[in-house]
Amino acid sequence: MASVLVTGGMGFIGSHTVISLYENGFDVVIADNLINSKTEVLNRLEQITGKRFKFYKVDCCDKEALRKVFEENEIDSVIHFAGLKAVGESVRMPLEYYSNNINSMLTVVELMNEYKVRKLVFSSSATVYGESEDVPFTEESPLGMCTNPYGWTKWMLEQVLRDCAKAYPDLKVCLLRYFNPVGAHESGLIGEDPKGIPNNLFPYISKVAAGTLEQLTVFGDDYDTPDGTCLRDYIHVCDLADGHVKALNFVATHDDSVSVFNLGTGKGTSVKEAVAAFEKACGHEIKHVFGARRPGDIPVCYASTDKARKELGFEAKRTIEEMCSSCWNWQTKNPDGLPSDS
Ligand code: NAD
Ligand code: UD1
Repeated sequence: MASVLVTGGMGFIGSHTVISLYENGFDVVIADNLINSKTEVLNRLEQITGKRFKFYKVDCCDKEALRKVFEENEIDSVIHFAGLKAVGESVRMPLEYYSNNINSMLTVVELMNEYKVRKLVFSSSATVYGESEDVPFTEESPLGMCTNPYGWTKWMLEQVLRDCAKAYPDLKVCLLRYFNPVGAHESGLIGEDPKGIPNNLFPYISKVAAGTLEQLTVFGDDYDTPDGTCLRDYIHVCDLADGHVKALNFVATHDDSVSVFNLGTGKGTSVKEAVAAFEKACGHEIKHVFGARRPGDIPVCYASTDKARKELGFEAKRTIEEMCSSCWNWQTKNPDGLPSDS
């Protein structure tokens, strides 16, 4: 049976996407080096779906090791999630970010060419729109002016894939620009499991709600926004996962060599609103203080969703309340995250 290769499929977005693919009748093979995920995800996926997914612990930069996956399976398409994603870390470790994110993608495309695999969905990010304040971001908005190496890897890889699609006419690539993925599967069995102190808002709020961290610092309340705090387009990870199924169907049924879609809700939610929604979900106050602006933050960032709605048939369904309650469900069921591998 033809399979979808999900690189990085043990991670936050990848694992939720594996479920959506399975529920939509796709056979899945996962390749992940577990640099930012744990083997336990495989058990959790089995608990949710009843299926033990085929998993290769492999670094996507290691061509010979990854070749085995193509050799042993009938890979029909690839969703490439594998990559490093922490913005601050990328500033401290640019070489690791450029090396891992660029080489893993190049290796995957080389093997796709070799094994005549023609369909690719790539995890890009709204970060490719850079520091522009011209919202909402449409797929035509200017790119570049990224503020960190992580962002530049996404920007570069989009270009690499455009060039490949030109050079290899059978290749069809779908670039998905995610906005702010949050929330967790309704079972509470999988979710975002960051190492150490989280940098992003929702994982941080969850830890404050759980009492693991003392208080949230809201980065700036003097922005030119309705309540003074930044607006972001938070999208439930299960909606995002469903977007990947739509993207795979799109590349299978359209001739476009490159297609690009924003995956967001089209709505901006402020930090204050996110805190209030989470307080409702967990039933108690989230202690927070107002601090200085975080360097590099833009006041407002949300997606234009018209193109995804019209061409992909994608619309995010879940509300900010559902994002918070699923996040809280995951947090309370797994206060220390998933058990480690060793
Ligand atoms: P994640 O870290 O949870 O998942 C990435 C997975 O890739 C991890 O399981 C990690 O072990 C694996 N991996 C990393 N490098 C690898 C390599 N060389 N070979 C094999 N496996 C490797 O991150 P996520 O939030 O699920 O993000 C998935 C993708 O989406 C990433 O490419 C990320 O940049 C992109 N993205 C994420 C966000 C977000 O906010 N989470 C936003 C926009 C784009
Ligand atoms: C982050 C990434 C971005 C990525 C996006 C997708 C950074 C700098 N940027 O963006 O590259 O594409 O996720 O998920 O990490 N906030 C607080 N206090 C906190 C944490 C966050 O007030 O402790 C605020 C931030 O200032 C921001 C909002 O919450 O206004 C969301 O922050 P975050 O979750 O880090 O996401 P982004 O900054 O949008």
